[in-house]
Amino acid sequence: MNILLTGGMGYIGSHTAILLSEAGHQVHIYDNLCNSNIDTLNRIKKITSKDIAFTNGDIRDTEKLFNTLVNEKIEIVIHLAGLKAVGESSQKPIEYYANNVQGSISLLQAMQSANIKTLVFSSSATVYGNPVYLPYDEDHPTAPTNPYGRNKLQIEEMLHDLAVSDKAWSIACLRYFNPVGAHESGLIGEDPNGIPNNLMPVIGQVVSGKLPLLNIFGDDYDTPDGTGKRDYIHVMDLAEGHLAALNWIKNNPRLHIFNIGSGKSYSVLEIIHCFEQVSSHSIPYQVVNRRPGDLPEYYASADKAKTVLGWEAKRGLSDICNDSWRWIKNPKII
Ligand code: NAD
Ligand code: WQD
Repeated sequence: MNILLTGGMGYIGSHTAILLSEAGHQVHIYDNLCNSNIDTLNRIKKITSKDIAFTNGDIRDTEKLFNTLVNEKIEIVIHLAGLKAVGESSQKPIEYYANNVQGSISLLQAMQSANIKTLVFSSSATVYGNPVYLPYDEDHPTAPTNPYGRNKLQIEEMLHDLAVSDKAWSIACLRYFNPVGAHESGLIGEDPNGIPNNLMPVIGQVVSGKLPLLNIFGDDYDTPDGTGKRDYIHVMDLAEGHLAALNWIKNNPRLHIFNIGSGKSYSVLEIIHCFEQVSSHSIPYQVVNRRPGDLPEYYASADKAKTVLGWEAKRGLSDICNDSWRWIKNPKII
């Protein structure tokens, strides 16, 4: 199928582009490179030995999107483009609403005009907010606690209204948990601009000597070792989740929501120890105050994705650390 990947040059999009291309789909990436690098395109082509089309464009440019959809004969859109830093979203809420919500409206308008009504949307477990119970299943109440999370929920609600208004739409909202890891080639992985906020990129920078140590945000949580626990999902498992979702959604109209997580949680200390083992490097750390807004623990019920889509995470923590390490120690020269 001809698939448009908005945000396809980013961390999750680039891994998904590889998998879709290897599965025989024609992939077209649409990205404004605000948080990615054109180099990634060469790396994707090198891994797949296939041509991947690319348009440098903003999702808020409805006309450019429309022309791309029509000219490339797109059949399905996977919508990953967006700003994603939770802390930054509180400092620059309007920028986040404009990019994420307005950008999604622009995409939907372009899709409607081009009569393309099949969509997979990158949502987030952050829409759930404080756990009422764990694991979060898809029926867990939603109460996001930051502008980024509210962007995701508003987009989901908009998609719901759209699918109710017009039965021709088929939409899958994938609520990702904590994506980590890298492609097994070591040629692509997460490479954030500036100082990272998330645990895995920070560990990567400590182990490669760019940062002196890791700050652990609290060791007094009600968890076995006191540090926060999360559901880390390998980015290639996540990519496979997109493939499963698009294969299913094309025959199943309306809106469907799926958690894409492993169903397990690991603590910060467990991650550090696994990384130390696979890299044979020690990771210096200090315990500092809890980070405002952090939860002690959360993880997915991934039962719906398994039952309905036939998808489940196959890679474990040592795969995550091994693949991340291969990417981190790569000299990053193509
Ligand atoms: P990323 O920043 O690596 O990739 C996002 C891509 O979108 C970038 O290449 C960026 O240049 C592009 N982009 C942003 N705004 C754009 C615009 N207006 N027009 C065109 N392109 C634009 O992020 P990622 O980790 O790959 O995340 C992809 C999606 O998954 C995002 O929507 C994010 O909110 C969602 N998500 C990510 C995580 C995570 O922890 N990484 C978790 C849950 C959900
Ligand atoms: C993981 C654990 C931290 C950094 C975020 C978003 C979420 C989703 C995924 C987009 C926590 C601890 C971290 C550090 C640390 N993104 N930590 N030192 O906060 O679970 O989720 O990314 O949708 O919406 O909120 O991920 O990687 O930042 O933190 O101790 O330097 O690592 O306290 O327990 P988080 P994270």
